[in-house]
Amino acid sequence: MFSFVKLSALLLLVPFVASAPTDVAERATAIDTTSHCVFHPGQFDSVVAGSYTLFLDQWGASGASSGSDCANFVALTGTTVSWKTVWTWTSGSSTGVKSFTNINLNANLNKQLSAIASIPTTWTWSQSTSSVVADVAYDLFTSNTAGGSAVNEIMIWLANFNAGPISATFNSAGQPVPVVSNLSLNGHTWNLFFGSNGSNNVYSFLPTSGTITSFSGDINLFLKYLTANRGVSTAQFLTTVQGGTEATSGSATLTTSAFSVVIN
Ligand SMILES: *[C@@H]1O[C@H](CO)[C@@H](O)[C@H](O)[C@H]1NC(C)=O
Ligand SMILES: *[C@@H]1O[C@H](CO)[C@@H](O)[C@H](O)[C@H]1NC(C)=O
Repeated sequence: MFSFVKLSALLLLVPFVASAPTDVAERATAIDTTSHCVFHPGQFDSVVAGSYTLFLDQWGASGASSGSDCANFVALTGTTVSWKTVWTWTSGSSTGVKSFTNINLNANLNKQLSAIASIPTTWTWSQSTSSVVADVAYDLFTSNTAGGSAVNEIMIWLANFNAGPISATFNSAGQPVPVVSNLSLNGHTWNLFFGSNGSNNVYSFLPTSGTITSFSGDINLFLKYLTANRGVSTAQFLTTVQGGTEATSGSATLTTSAFSVVIN
């Protein structure tokens, strides 16, 4: 009932918005901004806005003893979306990731890496606390075929909140060991980690220090680095591009004031 009232109000506004004499490119698009929640043990939920889908994606929620995850779009202007997620997880049978609430790009996917000119993106965000186990990251997948199952997963972490990347190698202190250190790309310095999570190769670029709360650049440069230096084939198809938070435990609100990604 509540959401029906909200939807009716939204629909009533549409004719006025549409007739306003604003520049078409700058006009905010009417979208579903209501909060979508899933509670433990949970199920997947999603909502579409423009070229994006907001996925709650609580793939590991069965490993929590309790928790919840809510998310909503705030606004969409052109290809720039703002969104928010509020999550809380207590680890139960698993100390691993509970949810990857993310913005998934739906446009221009399934190109071969050799055919991609650029993937410009911006992401500006803030989080209520760093006292959680989580990351804030882009997650890309490639496959042998268009729309096929994942062969490679490429993560670009903007923040590491007491979590760690998939790695095949750990030092005696239990820390993951990078396969490449101090790599300069897109104006930041990264360590590259590599391992398998049982289903696909996982390449993770992590900032060498600190968090990047305002990222702007071409994430195709990370793919080009892997094809030029790490044996990833340029014949792979880019099947998935997402940006979100892998949440393991704790409670946090992640607020994204601007997220945009386009495949050219
Ligand atoms: C990376 O850079 C840091 C800081 O300059 C330095 O201490 C470290 O030795 C470098 N690591 C490698 C493997 O070159
Ligand atoms: C590993 O595997 C699954 C497929 O089961 C994949 O969807 C997931 O994102 C993976 N990556 C990481 C970093 O755990």
